[in-house]
Amino acid sequence: MTITAYAPASIGNLSLGYDVLGAAIEPIDGAVLGDVVEINRAEQFSLTIAGPFAHKLPADENANIVTHCYEHFIEAMVKYGQPTHPVALTLQKNLPIGSGLGSSASSIVAALHALNVYFEHPFTKNELLHMMGELEGQISGSVHYDNVAPCYLGGITLMTGQKAPLTVSLPAINSWYWVVCYSGITVSTAQARDILPASVPLSTGLTFGRQLGVFVHALHTQDETLAGVVMNDVIAEPYRKALLPGFDEARSYCIDAGALAFGISGSGPTVFAVCQKLQQARDMAAWLDKNYIQNSDGFSHVCRIPAKGVK
Ligand code: HSE
Repeated sequence: MTITAYAPASIGNLSLGYDVLGAAIEPIDGAVLGDVVEINRAEQFSLTIAGPFAHKLPADENANIVTHCYEHFIEAMVKYGQPTHPVALTLQKNLPIGSGLGSSASSIVAALHALNVYFEHPFTKNELLHMMGELEGQISGSVHYDNVAPCYLGGITLMTGQKAPLTVSLPAINSWYWVVCYSGITVSTAQARDILPASVPLSTGLTFGRQLGVFVHALHTQDETLAGVVMNDVIAEPYRKALLPGFDEARSYCIDAGALAFGISGSGPTVFAVCQKLQQARDMAAWLDKNYIQNSDGFSHVCRIPAKGVK
């Protein structure tokens, strides 16, 4: 039996929800923007890595996050007295690492979902999400679910801070186009977290809370203007933009060109712009291609938010 799982890219934070809000994304032209993990039965464990960004991963398979997922999953199976056997895994690494597109989350979600299906669903969605968050924490230095949750479940997810449910789904505004542009440089999430201050002024905390509350309301009432107007990053962008060459120019261009919102995807360097019209989104993607991309690894896509995450 072969199981293959595809896990989409995601935008962590959505500017206004540092560590608590995220959305899955899917290019409208059908391009593959997510990692794929395949599982087959085997005599002993192995991991084969392929795909356009395979060369950016550590050569040692024991250092790969997918191997850690396998070990973690099997350990949990043994703990619960479930029978296991070795498998051969293949990771198709389609997302650039350190891109802000939830690259590690995509590998983790594809691997753990594929394992859970292969071993006939020993874990619930919530249990699996806990595992995904822990594994993501191994890479970025702290447990946060704003990439793994939307990648796994699809749509827009809001973290609850509770053990169960870990996350709730919010209604997306389905007419919006999300332009994402990866500049091609690498930003380590751990480093992008380290540069943030350990505490924020009360006024910043109030703005953060107000915006998040208003955004959730605006999604439920499908008020596009209100949702767009509160998508401001008062926590990370003021510090992180220094790591992103051309960020201010890209922001000014997109907002002047009519984007409802513009921000850093996760910890960057990918940026995103929210558009109401397809032509506007295509024009913005073309401008970002020309002006924000720094090297031949960069790309941009016009995306929607898919209702389904991992497949
Ligand atoms: N919420 C995370 C951050 C997303 O901004 O650091 C990146 O994994």
